[in-house]
Amino acid sequence: MKLYVQTWGCQMNQLDSSRIVQLMKSADYEPTDRVDDADLIILNTCSVRDKAEQKVYSALGRWRTLKEEKGVILGVGGCVAQQEGEALLRRAPHLDLVFGTHNMHKLPQMVEEAREAARRSVETAFYRDPFYLEDPSGLPETEGAKAYVTIMQGCNKVCSFCIVPRVRGREVSRSSDNIVRDVEALVERGVKEVMLLGQNVNSYGRTVEGERSFPELLERINAIPGIRRIRFTTSHPHDLSPELVDAFVRLGNLCEHLHLPLQSGSDSVLARMRRGYRLDEYLERVHSLRKRRPEVAVTTDMIVGFPGETEAEFEETLAVVREIEYDDMFTFTYSPRPRTVAAKVYRDDVPDEVKGDRCRRLQELQKSIALRKNRSLIGTEQEILVEGPSRLGRDQLMGRTRTNRIVNFTPGEATVPAEMARVRVVDATPNSLVGEAVGAREVVQ
Ligand code: SAM
Ligand code: F3S
Repeated sequence: MKLYVQTWGCQMNQLDSSRIVQLMKSADYEPTDRVDDADLIILNTCSVRDKAEQKVYSALGRWRTLKEEKGVILGVGGCVAQQEGEALLRRAPHLDLVFGTHNMHKLPQMVEEAREAARRSVETAFYRDPFYLEDPSGLPETEGAKAYVTIMQGCNKVCSFCIVPRVRGREVSRSSDNIVRDVEALVERGVKEVMLLGQNVNSYGRTVEGERSFPELLERINAIPGIRRIRFTTSHPHDLSPELVDAFVRLGNLCEHLHLPLQSGSDSVLARMRRGYRLDEYLERVHSLRKRRPEVAVTTDMIVGFPGETEAEFEETLAVVREIEYDDMFTFTYSPRPRTVAAKVYRDDVPDEVKGDRCRRLQELQKSIALRKNRSLIGTEQEILVEGPSRLGRDQLMGRTRTNRIVNFTPGEATVPAEMARVRVVDATPNSLVGEAVGAREVVQ
């Protein structure tokens, strides 16, 4: 039988989807890229922005005929499933199953009951024990040289705009022994780079008696023989500890990249967002990191058009972006999410045209900064991990620098996919570098 999975949203959802595939393989489902071939369709959803719930109903509507004509089993998982639960089954009579963010492990049984007994089911319980974050087969599957590893899930913060704590639950951390075991197994299968995932990785381990801290976890992973690159996301600025700054100095395999969402450059907006820090505190942390490790690329998330955001407040955001000179930025226009504090307390009063205009202005500014920074790298040599063919075609390959910049490059004779390569930067755009492979392939001992 065939399984088609559609994934929306963040890296954690992508990892969850690969687990869904793995889980269902054990129930004799093989993945397919063609929805028309599927016997089981799973939509793994994100509810962080926009009209996520509406999008789910539209997608389900498109698959209705497959249900009617072929009797395909339809399931919705992820954050919208967690948020809407039962309501999804009520509003979409052809939907068979709904599973929340802690309930993926129940999927094979839910599918079997739908198939054998036409039973429709909803599973959205939250658990405090992180058993559901462990890999279903005991060890993560992987292809290629990069892998995601979930270290924690959920968030104990209360940002007023954010639905994540509601749909992913409170912070739960996996045991560091299990994480290290997984990374060792991945390295054994050729993985050179791991991305550690969590909604707020800096508070890893805090809710578990006797567990290691995040910097201590990084230290253990750094010591695994064969690991070349460690990345992590996402960090909350409030919890960026001096020990973590230290880790960037001490740990040779920790990549020089920190994603540190600021959200707004205005203290009054930050207070309405309930972010828990002021701009000067954020700047102080970025400066202390850059003082000790100037090479670290800093990237961020920004929301424009938060309720009540004035032109002057928005200009404070532009000013801080000019000051920090981020290496990259994700820009979002505010959208009220159901039952969040901001949606309850504030009117969504910034007109859409103003939101769009601010978004464009911020992106333009960031583009000019990124172009300048990328151009300054022309002529340098960079170590990259070769990921595969470039989207540009023309026999080019693609890889990333340790600072997470994309490099499209002309391979040399010694260039091997999924290995490290050295590349000379010959040109730059705002989003990527252009390069040429140099020298012989590095031999990993
Ligand atoms: N720490 C979180 C994580 O990585 O899981 C960040 C939450 S979210 C997945 C990523 C970004 O989406 C946030 O940093 C924020 O900029 C944006 N975002 C979250 N809620 C939003 C909303 N209601 N409207 C617009 N943007 C939002
Ligand atoms: Fe959301 Fe704030 Fe946590 S953005 S994931 S509530 S740190």
